[in-house]
Amino acid sequence: MWFVVIFLHLGLCYTIWKNIVLSLYHPIKIGSLELPGNLFLAPVAGYTDRAFRSICAEEGACFSFTELVSAEALYRNYGRYGLDVNESSLNTAANLVRRGASEKRYAVQLFGAQSESIYKAASLLAPLYPDAVDINAGCPVPKVVKNGAGSALMKDPANIGRIVEAAVRASRDCLGGVPVTVKIRSGWDSASLNYAECARIAVEAGAQMISLHPRTRAQHYGGRSDWSHIADLVTRINVPVTGSGDLYTPHDAKRMLLETGCAAVMFARGAMGNPFIFSETRSLLEADADSCAESSAEFCANGMPGAVHVSFSARMAAALRHLEMLAADIGERAACLEMRKQFCAYTKGIPGGAALRDKAVHAQTIEEYRQIVNETIGGIL
Ligand SMILES: Cc1cc2nc3c(=O)[nH]c(=O)nc-3n(C[C@H](O)[C@H](O)[C@H](O)COP(=O)(O)O)c2cc1C
Repeated sequence: MWFVVIFLHLGLCYTIWKNIVLSLYHPIKIGSLELPGNLFLAPVAGYTDRAFRSICAEEGACFSFTELVSAEALYRNYGRYGLDVNESSLNTAANLVRRGASEKRYAVQLFGAQSESIYKAASLLAPLYPDAVDINAGCPVPKVVKNGAGSALMKDPANIGRIVEAAVRASRDCLGGVPVTVKIRSGWDSASLNYAECARIAVEAGAQMISLHPRTRAQHYGGRSDWSHIADLVTRINVPVTGSGDLYTPHDAKRMLLETGCAAVMFARGAMGNPFIFSETRSLLEADADSCAESSAEFCANGMPGAVHVSFSARMAAALRHLEMLAADIGERAACLEMRKQFCAYTKGIPGGAALRDKAVHAQTIEEYRQIVNETIGGIL
């Protein structure tokens, strides 16, 4: 008899565990915004241009963010950002804020230290129809923090409240009430870990999602991110928490979802040159839990059951497509220059990648890039 009870109990535990694993990929609601899944592309300045965001959306990124845009620069030069309906502009600034061709849902990320600047800039975004406005409270770069913006906002939590309130007002007045979200760090340094306070103030001011990159400003992008801060924040606020930090593989994303209980994850450096990480992660999260149960944790980490195998040529095809789309946005010459660093990301870890990169730094046209790639992989692109 006891044997049957234990057996039934184990069966129940297994079912609960399996349900948790199977439901790790799920829809998510951010205020009025409904997203079909919880895998996001993080804002990464200099990398997440609209061409790349578009490719990531095709590969399964459910939501993405523009790189940080200065609120003040935007409202002072809104014509350059393509926000003057009487002026058409094809330039880098406009390219920063426009929606990607395949990007179904995106947020424009603003930074600034003055609530009036945020109000003015957010109000001007109407022609872009963004699905959300994101406030940057995490950038560690000196030229941003010296003006009190980015992660410096975390030294003045009350100002985060004023800024979010201004963005919410702008959204209500001009953007149809799209949600306002905020991206924060753990704090300024290890002696001032105030993510919980900043998040609470932001939510009280109307923020509908908090993204947490659990490094301090002092850490910049080095060291390890501390996921326990994400797990802690999840228990403290009643809006979705999105986790960021050290997500380099699909298995990292799965582990973050399981260990922290966050509603969504956002890939940053892990997606650079690898837009396939979204489809791979979705496959992993949706894969039959049996395959993991039968294998060791190590196998799950490396073998990624359910993962789509992405070949070298598929990666190169994505790089060339990225280049073509970028050229359509900012012109061929500028795109070829810009592509140099992106190409490093696409070829990272690939056999022969170093030789490919050496040649690519001299490429001036799309055709030259194509030839270099074709010479390496045998002329199929
Ligand atoms: C080169 C670079 C540029 C970044 N630009 C932005 C940005 O514009 N806005 C922002 O909120 N975060 C930015 N981030 C932070 C990322 O969105 C992310 O939170 C961080 O890199 C942690 O994730 P990872 O360790 O998985 O890369 C940037 C990160 C890097 C490395």
